[in-house]
Amino acid sequence: MGTLDGKVALVTGSGRGIGRAIACKLASEGARLVVNDLDEGPARDTIARINDMGSQAVSCVGDVTAADFGERFVNLAVETFGTPDIIVNNAGYTWDNVIQKMSDEQFQAVIDVHLAAPFRILRAAAGPIRAAAKQEAAQRKAVCRKVVNISSVSGVYGNAGQANYSSGKLGVVGLTKTLAKEWGRYRVTVNAVAFGLVHTRLTQALENESASVDIAGRDIAVGVHRERLEAIAQTVPLGRGATPEEAAGAVYLFCIPESDYVSGQLLVCDGGGR
Ligand SMILES: NC(=O)c1ccc[n+]([C@@H]2O[C@H](COP(=O)([O-])OP(=O)(O)OC[C@H]3O[C@@H](n4cnc5c(N)ncnc54)[C@H](O)[C@@H]3O)[C@@H](O)[C@H]2O)c1
Repeated sequence: MGTLDGKVALVTGSGRGIGRAIACKLASEGARLVVNDLDEGPARDTIARINDMGSQAVSCVGDVTAADFGERFVNLAVETFGTPDIIVNNAGYTWDNVIQKMSDEQFQAVIDVHLAAPFRILRAAAGPIRAAAKQEAAQRKAVCRKVVNISSVSGVYGNAGQANYSSGKLGVVGLTKTLAKEWGRYRVTVNAVAFGLVHTRLTQALENESASVDIAGRDIAVGVHRERLEAIAQTVPLGRGATPEEAAGAVYLFCIPESDYVSGQLLVCDGGGR
């Protein structure tokens, strides 16, 4: 028996890093997963891990910023497993520069992935969730659904070089708080988790070299120089960055029945605060 037996969970960007750890944690508690990633191989790998645990998963490969992605993602969930019970908006990346060197394209692309995409996915989910909630209310069944949006300490406190990312990551907190008010009547809790340093591809340690990843055809620099990573870790009361599994644990707290009366909240998961 898992805590989330039979629940239908959708996690964007779950081919790698924190998203993959979230998808695997939810699946390990019995949820059926709709996995998404830009990249097919990593999405397939997450599905294989979930299947190995004896849970079910289906993949919806594609760019969350595509105009029709929200409908495609939610429809696949409804057709395959049923109404979404848990939606985690996690997909994202950083594309940094100081403001005088940040192009319109760079600002907008990062806002699109961290704010516009979650908005469209949740808008697409409104129909099935409202219909299910009305039916459950008529049958006097109390089903609580969960949305968790992934934010960042960059949004909460600001971070030099991240005008685009910090704006998107705080914007998604506004979306969270508004939707908590709109969807309370449908028994949906809507919360956000802002991470500090989590060790993933985005924050990989660089020695003297540079690293980049392909995000929808754009070559985006990733990674943090080792000395800078060590300096950041020293500012963390727990003295280190989080593993993706520890980060997933914070999201899981908002997905379990014990948090059914917690909504509209931002949880900062950064190893001790600042
Ligand atoms: N790693 C950190 O320290 C940290 C800190 C705060 C917040 N976050 C946030 O956590 C989330 C996950 O990041 P991560 O560190 O696991 O990075 P990651 O690069 O390891 O994983 C992110 C995944 O999202 C996918 N993705 C990116 N853009 C996408 C798009 N447009 N459509 C579909 N999939 C897309 C990538 O292909 C990748 O597999 C992001 O929203 C990130 O901003 C990370």
